[in-house]
Amino acid sequence: MTNKQTSTPHRFLTGITTTGTPHLGNYVGSIRPSVAASKGDSAESFYFLADYHALIKCDEPARIQQSTLEIAASWLAAGLDPERVTFYRQSDIPEIPELTWLLTCVTAKGVLNRAHAYKASVDKNTTAGNDPDADVSAGLFMYPVLMGADILMFKAHQVPVGRDQIQHIEMARDMAQRFNHLYGEHFVLPQALIEESVALLPGLDGRKMSKSYDNTIPLFTPRDQLKKLIASILTDSRAPGEPKQTEDSALFQIYQAFASAPETAALRNAFAEGIAWGDAKQLLFERIDQEVAPMRARYQALMQDPAKIEATLLAGADKARRLSTPFMGELRQAVGLRKLVAAPAVAAAKLKTAKTSEPVFKQYREADGKFHFKLLDGQGQLLLHSLGFESPKEAAKAIALLQTQGEAALPMLRQSLQAVPGVTADAIAAALQLWSSAAP
Ligand code: TRP
Repeated sequence: MTNKQTSTPHRFLTGITTTGTPHLGNYVGSIRPSVAASKGDSAESFYFLADYHALIKCDEPARIQQSTLEIAASWLAAGLDPERVTFYRQSDIPEIPELTWLLTCVTAKGVLNRAHAYKASVDKNTTAGNDPDADVSAGLFMYPVLMGADILMFKAHQVPVGRDQIQHIEMARDMAQRFNHLYGEHFVLPQALIEESVALLPGLDGRKMSKSYDNTIPLFTPRDQLKKLIASILTDSRAPGEPKQTEDSALFQIYQAFASAPETAALRNAFAEGIAWGDAKQLLFERIDQEVAPMRARYQALMQDPAKIEATLLAGADKARRLSTPFMGELRQAVGLRKLVAAPAVAAAKLKTAKTSEPVFKQYREADGKFHFKLLDGQGQLLLHSLGFESPKEAAKAIALLQTQGEAALPMLRQSLQAVPGVTADAIAAALQLWSSAAP
């Protein structure tokens, strides 16, 4: 994936609902390509365990917890490197539900009425002659808004998802557009990324491998169990020696998802030459086990050490919150959830008339084309400078935050600010205070 000319890195983000145990279909369709992508390039990837979403579908606390553990362990065992990506648990980011509310207020109810999952429930109820909303929770209704918050919070450009999720991404775009229109350009408009090449894996019965069909092969099932499950894959009744069809063969398709091109070609030949189903299943079993066995060992070790996974997730949340905390501060400011002291308008006017005896912010543009600012004290001594912002507006926003919130804004902006050697935090705090108390 290429980096855009802008210096904002290209961001991918995807969530995994924590209700089940990962199976081979999840591995081939989501885990494997995501882990590969996260290793490849300079893009920034965000992967998270969507446990708030899980609550919509599942009211068994133990299952939510167990699934969170299993899914986290699976992704890590499959090679996801938490140092290279941001890997976190949704419920560790309190800004997500907070943003959900802001988005709720800019989302038309009528749009949510048309969400596929909600509409399917309503249609089912109507057909059965029930109240349209029978057994529909408000959580299910709000699902797309929570998902919008997941995506917009981290300014994701692309969201790798299955086709069934496209509508949700479009809704997130609408929310972003509406919010930007009302309150200024805060959100990136996300796009769905549909991986055409990613195979939909068939399950034991030949239909799509899915928990809801009860036809899955758990990714890290023990070796003997894997063998048994593969033996139960549905085949036709052709006898050994009879040529076999590759199309519509679940066995062949699963093999293909794991094998190299020459290996697949060899199995195709064997089918034509009438390989016995039992032998084909043995080949499939060995091929999958070859790829899965090293990961299975790592998975089992990880499952023995939940504290380690917990620590990894908390470190990931910390990394994520370095973005979400200041961004939420900016959004609160934008919608008017503000401190009652010092209005930004007054602060801006003050900037123009600042006397030399008072601290002052100066905005400037550097050779890299980015917009910077610095804070000088009354004697013109440099106290603080910013890193580059993409637009003057963003720089101004950060300044406004410092002006209105004083030193409380410093932690929120710590990603955008650069310390000046020899200048103490106290000196900065004092200047900010002086500055804001100098405002009439
Ligand atoms: N709805 C997604 C699914 O069921 C999971 C999810 C939650 C998600 N939040 C997300 C996916 C944000 C992508 C981005 O598969």
